[in-house]
Parts: sequence; structure tokens; C-alpha cells
Amino acid sequence: MFRDAAGETLQPPARAWREYLVPQDWERFTSEEHGVWDMLFARQVPYLGTRIVTPFLGGISELGLDKPGIPELAALNAKLEPRTGWKLVSVAGIVPDDAFFAMLADRRFPIGNFIRPADSLDYLEEPDCFHDIFGHVPMLAHGPVARLMEIMGRLGVEAIAAGRGEVMSRLYWHTVEFGLAREDGEVKILGAGLASSFGEAHFALEAEVPRLRFTLKDAAATAYRNDRFQPLYFVSESLERTATELEALDLGGLSGLAG
Ligand SMILES: [Fe+2]
Repeated sequence: MFRDAAGETLQPPARAWREYLVPQDWERFTSEEHGVWDMLFARQVPYLGTRIVTPFLGGISELGLDKPGIPELAALNAKLEPRTGWKLVSVAGIVPDDAFFAMLADRRFPIGNFIRPADSLDYLEEPDCFHDIFGHVPMLAHGPVARLMEIMGRLGVEAIAAGRGEVMSRLYWHTVEFGLAREDGEVKILGAGLASSFGEAHFALEAEVPRLRFTLKDAAATAYRNDRFQPLYFVSESLERTATELEALDLGGLSGLAG
């Protein structure tokens, strides 16, 4: 709950995210679709190797994501929920920002109930279950990221209600979606959009693009691209610190970040 500049009390939007849920219907996936998952997995993991932050690979094995085929959400939840309290829910496609952040605030992460076709492994009109599961779920088993995403959800709901949702979208994008991170002095892949993309994982680490030290202020002021590779990347030094800094912000502080 917060007040706008005129002192009016604003109500956060109703948490109506449940209306976007659909059954995963895991039995419906064909052997060809399971094969697409296996192809993507086999292509991605060898490259990521030591180029991705350590907790990601830990999450892959702890959650059993290295088993063949598209994972069943119920089985994944049985492993994920006891670790960090997060639960995966199935959706039919992109969820609007207000519902998305409300899900995060309630420690729910939406998973598309479809996978890209075998003839377009690199083309995604919208995030499929390989992006959503392979990219995001290993880090949801990691305490600092689980906490950061819940805080982003809570602040995102408030920011959207106040017409400042873009600030939180940018912070989300430049960390858990397309962020890099420094680990043991080395710049590594952090974000799900990079972890799940063969092309952009290479690009983010190897191309001649700026890799800037992440600060809330700089990331909040930097627009992002959702139609091409990013023109620059932010390198997080400490997700724990970012979570603590965000937690200390009220809506005014959040809005003030973007100037
Ligand atoms: Fe994503």
C-alpha cells in the first residue's frame, strides 16, 4: 500500500493471476516435442559449462533437470518448493506484467505449456517451456535469486499500480533475464534469456558490447530490447546486495531511480 503525490491512497491491483493458469497436460507432449527439449539441452549445456554462474548447474542436477524430455511441473515442484518455497505454474503464453509480477510476489513462476518446433530451434515468438524451465528454474532453487525475484514481484505490483512499471521491468530484465554476473573475478552468464539462448549466450560473453557494472540506478535508467540481442549487458556483483537494496526501497525510491 502506498500514497501518490497528492496523498491519495492507491490500491494495488487485485491479484488475479490465477485466471491465467492452464493445466500443463504433460501427457500431451509428443515424442518429437520431448526430442526438441533434448536437442536444446544437449546443445546448451556444453557451452554453458564454466561460463554460467555455479548455482545454475547445481540447480540443474538438484532438480533433476538433466533427465531426458520436457519436465513435468508437478514433479519439479516437489523438489523446488521445499528448497525455496517457489512453485511453477502452467500458462498458455505471455502473461501481462501486472499478473506476472503478482505471481512473483506470491512465489509462483509461469511456465509456457508449449515448446518451439524442431525446425525453429532459435526462433521464439514468445517464451516457451525450454526458456521458462531451463533458463529460470535452476536459479529459483538458489536462495538469493528466489528472494530477489519475490521482492521484485512485490515492488513490481506496486510500481505498475502507480504507472511506474517500466522501472521494475528494467531491473528484472538487466538481472534475472539478461544479466551477467561476476563470480570469482570472472564475468559469467546469469540471466535466463542468455542461459536458454544458444546465440545470445555466446554474444553476451564474446561480442564487443559494453558490459557495465550493475547498479540499481544505471539499470533502472537503461531501456532494453526484446526484439534483438541486447546492445549492452549489466554485470551483477552481488545479488544478495541487490535484493537488500531493493527491499529497502519504497515506491518513491524506486521511481526516483529512473530519474
Ligand atoms: Fe524469461
